[in-house]
Amino acid sequence: MEKIIDEKQQGNSLVLEQNKANNRKLYIESYGCQMNFSDSEIVASILAKEGFNTTQQMEEADLVLVNTCSIRDKAEQTVRKRLEKFNAVKRINPKMKVGVLGCMAERLKSKFLEEEKIVDMVVGPDAYKDLPNLVQEIDEGRNAVNVILSKEETYGDVAPVRLNSNGVSAFVSITRGCDNMCTFCVVPFTRGRERSRDPQSILDEVNDLWDRGFKEITLLGQNVDSYLWYGGGLKKDYDKATDMQKATAVNFSGLLALVAETQPKMRIRFSTSNPQDMTLDVIETMAKHNNICKYIHLPVQSGSNRILKEMNRLHTREEYFELIDNIRNIIPDCAISQDMIAGFPTETEEDHQDTLSLMEYVKYDFGFMFAYSERPGTLAERKMEDDVPGEVKKRRLTEIINLQQKHALYRTQQHIGKTEEVLIEGTSKKSNAHWMGRNTQNTVVVFPKESYKIGEFVNVKINECTAATLIGEAVGYSENN
Ligand code: SAH
Ligand code: F3S
Repeated sequence: MEKIIDEKQQGNSLVLEQNKANNRKLYIESYGCQMNFSDSEIVASILAKEGFNTTQQMEEADLVLVNTCSIRDKAEQTVRKRLEKFNAVKRINPKMKVGVLGCMAERLKSKFLEEEKIVDMVVGPDAYKDLPNLVQEIDEGRNAVNVILSKEETYGDVAPVRLNSNGVSAFVSITRGCDNMCTFCVVPFTRGRERSRDPQSILDEVNDLWDRGFKEITLLGQNVDSYLWYGGGLKKDYDKATDMQKATAVNFSGLLALVAETQPKMRIRFSTSNPQDMTLDVIETMAKHNNICKYIHLPVQSGSNRILKEMNRLHTREEYFELIDNIRNIIPDCAISQDMIAGFPTETEEDHQDTLSLMEYVKYDFGFMFAYSERPGTLAERKMEDDVPGEVKKRRLTEIINLQQKHALYRTQQHIGKTEEVLIEGTSKKSNAHWMGRNTQNTVVVFPKESYKIGEFVNVKINECTAATLIGEAVGYSENN
């Protein structure tokens, strides 16, 4: 018996060696937030060392991975539909293995294996370094699960393989997890506690991107303003840090300044800011550095103080206005965008009107708007009834979206007649003869290509607009080029 196992193991390791040499094919699909797309680049890097090359063709893949999102029920349904498609492909290619990564993997754990027979492997967001072992497990015919959340893991030492890259802009993750515990949100459960990445490893990654021709980075975190490096470990354990660690700690404004000064021509963006954690020094650092883009994604979720409290958002409507006023005073042309939830439990018509009037005050450039979706395990699910009827949620959401459309158009109109610096990212979706890029405020700009190239900084005179796009013509290179 023992001998047979030995032979089997030997046979398998031989197959594994051959697989490494043969360059197996990895197909990876990502859903949800930017962090998931960034994580997939880390996963691709870890698996590249195991001999996996990425492919765009699922049909030829040995390993198919789906990086999943749990934020709303609809996001999970989308993934389940994709698994059905994978099933159809597996019938043609029976040796194909399927792994589920990300937030759904963390939420459902080994239940996934029972619920979706096609799944061979379940890997949570902090367990990607275990992939070589997990892949070996499934190679040997067993299912594999690792959903352990970590106090330390930031993948700071993994150089991401840039997937679907335009070679111009890249994500750089700086924090993982979230400690905020908004009552509607599943993220603290699926991504664990907040921890920050070593600033030196962030600078190394940014320098490497610049050397490879990248011109824009987005620093990523669930709550970037909460970034705090004091030598590693969880944010909530900062109290236990030594005096020395505290004296040399780096916060978010410190990190922003470091990155901006290290690569003064690299455009720097960041996402997401939580109002309760955004401090004045971040806004001042943005104002001081030309290469930090004048755009803040500042989700508020609701304009009603009562609802904000029920959501455990730790600021009031008035404090949010104060923050908006500070941003506008320090950076007058700063673009601001929102996330909004319609129909949180107990939301009344009056609460909804408060949301609309808050929007009227800010006049956001852009927004991501959602109907409330109850998530298992969250405080709202455990303590509150999802009592706003579906059609009421839908109607309120439509009102929010329509108002946002109006404000977006108002904002884009303010750019007409101005000449703005645009970083060229690629061909316009609507016309092969036009480039598409963004200005510092993150608004999409399209203009005739002429002899300009991808990755160049160009001054564009804005002539027309829609609610989402500025249309103009290039008047020459910007001084940044
Ligand atoms: N800080 C995060 C927020 C993640 S969730 C970030 O980096 O973007 C993104 C948005 O999804 C939230 O701001 C919120 O508007 C929305 N959202 C989260 N949970 C939700 C739920 N249960 N129902 C509806 N929308 C939700
Ligand atoms: Fe979710 Fe609130 Fe954090 S929305 S990701 S718990 S800031």
